[in-house]
Amino acid sequence: MKIPEQVQRLAIVVGVLLAVVLIGRFVLLPSRLVARELHQTATIEREVVKPVRYAGSTACADCHDDVVVKKAKGYHKGLACEGCHGPAVKHAEDPGAVKPAAPRDRKFCPVCHAYDPARPTGFPQINVTAHNPLKPCITCHNAHDPVPPRTPRDCAACHGQIERTKAVSSHALLACTTCHATPEQHKRSPRRATPSKPETREFCGGCHAADAPLKTGAIKDAPKVDLGTHGRSYPCWQCHYPHLPEGRS
Ligand code: HEC
Ligand code: HEC
Ligand code: HEC
Ligand code: HEC
Ligand code: HEC
Ligand code: HEC
Ligand code: HEC
Ligand code: HEC
Repeated sequence: MKIPEQVQRLAIVVGVLLAVVLIGRFVLLPSRLVARELHQTATIEREVVKPVRYAGSTACADCHDDVVVKKAKGYHKGLACEGCHGPAVKHAEDPGAVKPAAPRDRKFCPVCHAYDPARPTGFPQINVTAHNPLKPCITCHNAHDPVPPRTPRDCAACHGQIERTKAVSSHALLACTTCHATPEQHKRSPRRATPSKPETREFCGGCHAADAPLKTGAIKDAPKVDLGTHGRSYPCWQCHYPHLPEGRS
């Protein structure tokens, strides 16, 4: 049987491609890119000749014990010294000759603390334009132990995004503490004492069940639902974000 001519032509093209790949793989590529051991050695050699720039936090403890001890007790305990002071190996080797910079400028701290909705819940954030403007941050906060000079009064100081969300919702007039019993200590050390969160459908039913009374002092009555059937038996916040509860039909 005769092989059709178009198949023969295709075979030539495939053959040429195969040859190019094989030659590239075995002749043109340097062996250190192909053999794994050689590749690893080459990478290690390349990295090892780079100069060391960071001394590491343990190095600072030899001479700045006071700062290390202070920082370890404060909010900034998780931060590396050189994260703020820059690479300091030269300083650690010869402190008299080289001094690391200290970020005293107001521009520096907002890198981590400027308001950004992508940051985790409760991460201390400020509105840089409104928060005690013009003065450098270190006039009021010690960089190594930045405890605020007074305890914040408002939940919004740390939960700004939730406050702003709630402010445009139908729950705007409900205080946070209506739904979260908050120990005073939460504002001083938020992770050690946490507020309560509603746990049952009946909690929301306290205002929204068909037979719920008008709360004393309430400016407006809450819309009612049949607690027995509405939303079946799921928790209310499965469907209604409590800080912006508007239902969608
Ligand atoms: C061998 C001892 C030694 C080590 C290790 C050392 N320092 Fe220092 N450091 C000093 C001395 C001494 C001074 C004071 C220099 C002066 O005022 O002349 C100083 C000053 C400083 C200053 C003040 C600069 C200023 O503007 O006032 C900073 C910041 C600093 N060190 C950061 C660090 C950091 C971060 C590390 C760790 C990576 C470190 N040091 C490791 C001895 C040391
Ligand atoms: C959040 C950023 C930040 C971190 C983290 C940080 N520092 Fe500082 N550090 C500063 C700032 C800002 C100053 C300047 C303070 C001033 O002038 O009042 C400073 C000042 C210093 C000084 C000068 C003397 C003094 O005590 O004010 C030394 C020494 C120092 N830091 C060492 C360290 C060491 C060691 C660590 C790690 C244990 C560290 N810093 C971690 C921001 C930081
Ligand atoms: C690399 C990121 C980073 C930088 C830079 C930084 N911080 Fe912080 N800061 C943190 C972290 C992390 C915490 C602890 C947050 C927590 O406990 O949830 C914190 C906590 C704080 C708090 C405590 C807030 C509260 O919960 O009451 C203050 C105040 C503060 N920082 C001020 C500063 C100041 C002033 C500077 C500049 C000198 C600064 N921070 C630079 C990461 C940073
Ligand atoms: C004039 C003093 C002052 C200056 C300057 C200042 N703060 Fe504050 N900061 C405070 C006080 C007071 C609080 C306590 C909360 C409140 O009442 O606003 C606070 C709280 C904070 C908090 C925690 C959020 C909270 O409310 O617990 C962070 C983070 C913070 N400040 C960072 C900064 C940064 C970053 C700068 C510089 C851009 C700065 N602060 C400048 C006085 C100051
Ligand atoms: C000084 C900052 C700060 C203030 C002020 C603050 N919180 Fe918090 N809050 C936090 C932090 C940080 C967390 C996160 C704790 C965690 O993730 O473990 C948190 C968590 C919470 C949680 C979630 C608890 C959980 O178990 O998931 C609730 C609810 C809450 N806060 C309510 C409030 C209310 C209500 C107020 C005002 C009365 C308030 N907070 C004031 C910092 C603060
Ligand atoms: C109508 C009741 C209600 C009000 C008012 C309310 N919350 Fe909540 N909040 C809840 C419920 C319910 C949850 C739990 C939601 C879940 O588990 O999905 C919650 C969860 C949270 C959480 C943890 C998880 C999250 O959603 O980020 C924080 C923090 C929080 N609330 C803070 C606040 C603050 C601050 C205010 C005031 C600005 C506030 N809440 C007002 C009902 C409420
Ligand atoms: C203290 C009483 C109170 C509690 C507790 C309460 N709410 Fe409300 N809620 C109201 C009031 C008042 C309104 C109506 C405000 C208005 O119409 O301006 C409302 C409005 C609503 C709406 C209607 C939004 C729309 O479509 O207009 C929903 C949904 C809702 N709440 C869900 C919940 C959920 C879920 C919970 C429990 C986490 C809860 N509420 C807890 C008082 C309450
Ligand atoms: C399975 C999802 C789901 C669950 C769970 C759920 N809801 Fe709803 N809810 C809705 C939807 C969808 C709407 C809007 C359409 C409608 O009115 O039925 C709504 C509307 C509402 C309204 C507005 C009624 C009006 O007349 O404006 C209130 C108030 C309400 N829900 C409260 C609650 C409460 C309180 C709970 C918990 C006991 C709850 N919901 C559980 C889905 C749910």
